[in-house]
Amino acid sequence: MQKLLIKGKKKLSGTISISGSKNASLPILAASILAKNVKLSNVPLVKDIFTMLELLKFIGIKIKINKNNKTIELKNNKKIVNTLAPYKLVKTMRAGILVLGPLLTKYRKAKVSLPGGCAIGTRPVDLHLFALKKLGANIKIKDGYIIAEAKKGLVGTNIKFPSNSVGATENALIAAHGAKGKTTLSNCAIEPEIIDLISYLKKLGSKIKILGRKIIIIGKEKKTKKINHRIIFDRIEAGTYLIAGALIGNKITINKIFPKILKNEINILKKMGVFISSSKNSISVRNPQKLKRINISTKPYPGFPTDLQAQLMVLMTQANGWSQIKENIFENRFMHVPELRRMGAKIKIKDKIAYIFGPSRLTGAEVMATDLRASVSLVLAGLIADNRTIINRIYHLDRGYEFLEKKLKNCKAQIKRV
Ligand code: UD1
Repeated sequence: MQKLLIKGKKKLSGTISISGSKNASLPILAASILAKNVKLSNVPLVKDIFTMLELLKFIGIKIKINKNNKTIELKNNKKIVNTLAPYKLVKTMRAGILVLGPLLTKYRKAKVSLPGGCAIGTRPVDLHLFALKKLGANIKIKDGYIIAEAKKGLVGTNIKFPSNSVGATENALIAAHGAKGKTTLSNCAIEPEIIDLISYLKKLGSKIKILGRKIIIIGKEKKTKKINHRIIFDRIEAGTYLIAGALIGNKITINKIFPKILKNEINILKKMGVFISSSKNSISVRNPQKLKRINISTKPYPGFPTDLQAQLMVLMTQANGWSQIKENIFENRFMHVPELRRMGAKIKIKDKIAYIFGPSRLTGAEVMATDLRASVSLVLAGLIADNRTIINRIYHLDRGYEFLEKKLKNCKAQIKRV
């Protein structure tokens, strides 16, 4: 099994180009079931994307990947496809559930494996099913599968989500695109990845209006020829390298981004005393001598993202005094804490809140993590720790970080995969 070895305390400097967003690519790939012929560019070639492509191939979509210019062409001219998403393809990646809306709206039936639990929480799919039922689907659960049918097709309606969900909003949006008439979604998620999905659906022919947390979709599938779409940058990857720069950067420049989307994260780092300057498409970041403590809570966008919580916690271990993180999105997202403690971090957890005392001197250790963002937080800890850190189970990192070692090595980090 592969591991990462990191020799810590090496000051970082250089430029990092941010890849396309994994979390924007996944729903856009699923929505491509509804397109005849599309070319997507800036798709990050990470494990989760290959899993989604495997699922789309299984369904019957023709796919051509060009690894050199990171484009993916998808063609679907079929009247009949395989409307099944099997367990073996959905169990490793929860986003497999995103094919449910597109299959149902186009082919009027779908059988999709329940994704099941995962390390960061139970992660149910009730909100996905709630929205699809409102659009007219008959849904039953049998033998671990969601079996959905809409014999006369889905019909637009008003849907008010009882709570906020990124994936359920995406599934509902794509389904509403293919439904008859107008759909209004309220109390929905409005993450930048959802805005990217909306701009893609517009290219496929939907008329869509966004009014705060309300989205109005008038679906209409255009019979156009080829559609091109460039995936938005990965704001979580960008935030991760910003934190690396804040921890141990002489000067790291992060480019191919829109700093406006990271406004909240930049403000938090500035409040902690990090030196940051932004231009139109890049941000430069430098480690200050002293970091100030801060309290944050994770929230839906534009609040602080749960996907950057573990990384920010590492920065808090270097700040003066007690910092706090309240995790509001997932119930079990402090899995990195025991490993950070083994490296010398002083962290206490009570209910949803982690209390982090700093500055602490971290020392290298052999560690492992159980999810994507927790794993990358251990990489950040390794970069500032004394001696050598060995990170196990790096397949979690490969699910979502493109060229992680290469990007860090280019900034003079001592990191290698063995
Ligand atoms: C997406 C992101 C993930 C991110 C999360 C929150 C992708 C591929 N993944 O995940 O990286 O951490 O948003 O920003 O884009 N919930 C329910 N019922 C449902 C659906 C969700 O109770 O039917 C709960 C979840 O358990 C969680 C909360 O709602 O507590 C938010 O989850 P959701 O926004 O749906 O996350 P994902 O779309 O799975």
